[in-house]
Order: sequence, then structure tokens, then C-alpha cells
Amino acid sequence: MLNKARIAVLVSGGGTNLQALIDAQKAGIITSGEISLVISNNAGAYALTRAENAGIKTAVVSKKELGAEKFEETLIAELEKNSIDLIILAGFMCILSENFTSKYPKRIINVHPSLIPSFCGEGFYGLRVHEAALEYGVKVTGATVHFVNEIPDGGEIILQKAVEIEVGDTPEILQKRVMEQAEWNLLPRAAEMVSAEIVKSR
Ligand code: GAR
Repeated sequence: MLNKARIAVLVSGGGTNLQALIDAQKAGIITSGEISLVISNNAGAYALTRAENAGIKTAVVSKKELGAEKFEETLIAELEKNSIDLIILAGFMCILSENFTSKYPKRIINVHPSLIPSFCGEGFYGLRVHEAALEYGVKVTGATVHFVNEIPDGGEIILQKAVEIEVGDTPEILQKRVMEQAEWNLLPRAAEMVSAEIVKSR
């Protein structure tokens, strides 16, 4: 449908959140947007295989090879070439500069595996977030979907969900519970909410 928001999902690794978005689109949970492109900074990311299996166009843009400035220029060129309206960071392990984020106000969302403002910001990503939560001894953690601005994990919060920490949790067990009980549900819902806003604003 012509009127859908065109979505690019940026990934770095396994891509279970990307899979949740693909499944939500198939299930009719995302109807206002369409995943049109998946970009990885890492050519070996399994997320790329998930995209290919779903028939979604992919691109690899390597920060290591290009350097920070050219990396963002190339990302922007890919996004423009594909007329992208909404950028979803789904396990994307690169911090984007203000030069990039200011081009897309309220058009970039990110999923973070904690209840922001706890365990977030530079250095808090992937398993490290869960290690920090367990080390601190909090009894509740969760996930947050937020808009992305120039402050790492500092943009306006869209959705949050709490998840209980259980006795005997390891970072890996906790990561899986947070994904299952929060991330895979929140991210598709937020994608639909923001896509619907984009479509309405046209
Ligand atoms: C997810 O838990 C996501 O929230 C986290 O990385 C994991 C990626 O898993 N993102 C961050 O920590 C960003 N700061 P996935 O590749 O299976 O979706």
C-alpha cells in the first residue's frame, strides 16, 4: 500500500527483535508501516539471513571499513535511496552522532533492555546491561522503546515494560526473559504507533 510508512531496521547481531517485527507485520500487528530495508554494520550478522528469508532488501554498511563520518554518510544515502520514513534500531550496536540524529527527529526509535534511566547510556548494550542489573541487585528490570536523539538512550520514552528478576538468574537467562516478556512485544507495538503517526501527518 502506497500510504504505509517505509521502515528501515538497523541491526548488528542475531536479530531476534527484527524477527519480532517481521512476525508482527505478518500477523497484522504492524499495518501502518512496511519493513522495506534492513541495514547491518556487520556482514556476518544472522539478522541479515532473517531479512533475506523474509524477502526484505538488505545492505551492509561497515563502520570499521568506512570510518565514523563516511559510515553515517553512507547510511543516510541508503536511507534516502530507499525513501525511508522510520528508522528502527533493533540491536544496533553503533552510537549515531548528532549530525545523524538531528536529520530524523522523532523518526528513529530504539529498543533498550532495561528500564531507562537505569543501566543505559554509553557502554550499556546487549548482555552488559543484564550483567549490570544483576550486579547491582535490582529485583525488577525490563525494556524500553524510545525515540533516539543525540544523547545515548536519552530520547523521549514511548513504551516500557517491567520484568521480574528471579533467584539464580544469569545474564543470559535474564536477557532471554526480558526479550520474551518485553522487547519482542514492545518494539512491534511502538513501530505501529510511530508508523501510524507518520501516515497521519502526511
Ligand atoms: C537486545 O536485547 C536489544 O535490546 C539490545 O541488544 C539485543 C539485541 O538482540 N540492544 C541494546 O543493548 C542497545 N543498547 P537481537 O539482535 O536478538 O535483537
